[in-house]
Amino acid sequence: MGGARFYRGATETEEHTVSQIDHTREHLIETYRKKAKHYDITSRLYPVPGYPQRAQRLRAVQALGLHAGDSVIDIACGTGLNFPLIEEVIGPDGRIVGVDLTDAMLARAQARIKTNGWSNISLVQADAAEFDFPAEVDAILSTYSLSQVPECAEVIAHGAAALSGGGRWVVLDLKVPGNTPGWLAQLGTAIVRPFASIDEWIMRRPWEAIRAAMQGELAEFSWTELFFGTAFLAAGSRGPG
Ligand SMILES: C[S@@+](CC[C@H](N)C(=O)[O-])C[C@H]1O[C@@H](n2cnc3c(N)ncnc32)[C@H](O)[C@@H]1O
Repeated sequence: MGGARFYRGATETEEHTVSQIDHTREHLIETYRKKAKHYDITSRLYPVPGYPQRAQRLRAVQALGLHAGDSVIDIACGTGLNFPLIEEVIGPDGRIVGVDLTDAMLARAQARIKTNGWSNISLVQADAAEFDFPAEVDAILSTYSLSQVPECAEVIAHGAAALSGGGRWVVLDLKVPGNTPGWLAQLGTAIVRPFASIDEWIMRRPWEAIRAAMQGELAEFSWTELFFGTAFLAAGSRGPG
């Protein structure tokens, strides 16, 4: 896999070259290294206490339309909070590949895999923008992550090309509600977003790029706004051709 390495833990010897990571990426990795240890607890309060994150996550996994034995890529999987929901459907004959940029987040994902005794999950440390998707996967998921990847449209295109016929791509992420005044959006998201480049995130409006890419690359495209427009669920399938 180009620019990626299989994650085997902190003592691994590198077998693959690690991507050239620019300053934005370095900042992001540093941020998530600090968050990794307590992420599973703090994420329950994400983006604000009481936010229906788990219900949204469940809805995203359901939108994948999985069956037993399916192969799933979880892009920017973090500590693997989606893994139990996916495992429940695909079972031991299925397969998950979790991809993430931050070693410390993957270390937590690895611990989760060990605790649960799953033997069908592999982790890859890579930038989503450089990840070489394996061919003919049944489903691709990204939750609360893709809007942090400036090349989100490319990631969607690469993933769409790798899907098997009828395979599903689902993105769940946060957005600024359409009718929110700029100052309020800035105030709200500055409080809840985990990294300093919030202005850039608001200005870039990544949910629009994600929507356009999903619509352009996939059949049966659907777009659902969740929780007063503060999140979205985008889904689509690879057509038979
Ligand atoms: C808010 S966490 C979400 C993690 C997980 N998807 C979840 O739902 O809990 C964002 C994750 O995206 C990862 N990430 C951000 N940019 C990335 C990139 N360009 N490539 C791969 N992973 C990235 C971070 O390392 C972090 O683990």
